[in-house]
Amino acid sequence: MTENKALHPTTIIIFGATGDLAKRKLFPAFYNLYIDGRMPKGFNIVALGRADNTNEYFKNYIKENLENFSRKKITSEDWAGFQAHITYFQHQLDEESSYKNLHQKLKELDTVYGTRGNRLFYLSIGPNFVSTISNHIKNTSLASDPKRDRIIIEKPFGHDKQSAIELNGLLAETFEEEQIYRIDHYLGKETVQNILAFRFGNSIFEPLWDHKYIESVQITVAEEVGVETRGSFYEQTGALRDMIQNHLLQILCMVAMEPPASLESGEIRDRKVDVLKSIRRISEDQVDHYAVRGQYGKGVVNGVQAKAYRQEEGIAEDSNTETFAAVKFYLDNERWQDVPFYVRTGKKMKEKHSYITIQFKPLPHSTFSESSQQLSANRLIINIQPLMDIRLQFMAKKPGLSLVLKPVEMIFDNFACQEDTPEAYETLLLDALLGDLTLFMRSDQVEEAWDVVKTIQEAWQDGKASFPNYEAGGWGPQESIALVERQGHSWV
Ligand code: BG6
Repeated sequence: MTENKALHPTTIIIFGATGDLAKRKLFPAFYNLYIDGRMPKGFNIVALGRADNTNEYFKNYIKENLENFSRKKITSEDWAGFQAHITYFQHQLDEESSYKNLHQKLKELDTVYGTRGNRLFYLSIGPNFVSTISNHIKNTSLASDPKRDRIIIEKPFGHDKQSAIELNGLLAETFEEEQIYRIDHYLGKETVQNILAFRFGNSIFEPLWDHKYIESVQITVAEEVGVETRGSFYEQTGALRDMIQNHLLQILCMVAMEPPASLESGEIRDRKVDVLKSIRRISEDQVDHYAVRGQYGKGVVNGVQAKAYRQEEGIAEDSNTETFAAVKFYLDNERWQDVPFYVRTGKKMKEKHSYITIQFKPLPHSTFSESSQQLSANRLIINIQPLMDIRLQFMAKKPGLSLVLKPVEMIFDNFACQEDTPEAYETLLLDALLGDLTLFMRSDQVEEAWDVVKTIQEAWQDGKASFPNYEAGGWGPQESIALVERQGHSWV
């Protein structure tokens, strides 16, 4: 997304630098960008943490974690170069004096460049701290240059529409919208970005991309993992807020959006908001018809015994939190009238697999009357992860003397094209350094996405579910199958 923009000297300030995200994703991403020569010529990473760590201790900690989480191997030469850009800085999130000291430190670092560099603030902290940090940044004028200072914020952006509006309002007191980078890491995934290229870089698919030819669309994000160490966070969140409100709706937007006039970020984001606005809102008494929730009981995932969700650490014995959600959406616009978009996501599912299925309509009339039984309607599958490919399924003649048809696949495999694909965070951090907002969420996108799930969220909060209702290691509750079967469809 970033071809024509230039990198400028930047100081990256990471709040929560000793946390999980920083060690697993952020430092590995910066390190890989550095090796690829995609970091600015002058850059500094100021890592903020509460503890009184020395620089040396912190750098060793980062190095150890890079060994586990970096895409590329660590060599002593690369590490020596990279570590020189890291500074650990002890900081208390809620103390104004800490921000004043930080300001002083940033000024010192600026002299290294001989000029004031850009500042990129990364909030890798719990949502409760966003307002505190944002207020202190404002009071101490840490981000006073709207052209050069940016802030990256991790999800969740609020917990419902109202709180998202409040959060956006609060951020707007300190930052212009162009300075705010709200991350949805799914948008940085190679295969998700490829949807744009596939749809708008070819002339042969777009004419078929509507209700006349497409029967249904399915989006599945299945995970093998459970809630791991995030029990208390997840208890307050659940699959609808954690995954559907953001990742799955963003993928849906990429599949359903109208062609943008250009790749300009405002243009693409406008088209996505159009999709979100067009999603049909349902009333509370329709929720059971359009949405299904589930929670895993014990079972076996990948040959390993798995506990039930309610037995995990930090989870209430009678928890009402869903670990699985499936929803049927309709888009009330000309292109997608009456085409169901089925989305589903769950934890402790049979396998880790995220994919989009575009199911085309069956032939209106079959020329091959005798073998008509064998005709399957065309299908396009976009595998997001761990497979990263695009598969077109169609009918072909089985080689031989008789005219027998069989379904075959044509596959574009990302790995065959390029074995070493950048991680989503590499793409997104590079975009933020370059000042490209295309793959980040604008305030109206976030609010609209909350509005889409609002009714379901409220109904599920109020109504007690009979959980657990699916076995760990399965494909979710029976009702999710019924959701699509009612219309003669089935999950692929
Ligand atoms: C996060 C969710 O946003 O995405 C997690 O909070 C989820 O619950 C994760 O596991 C999935 O990301 P990925 O890249 O592993 O598919």
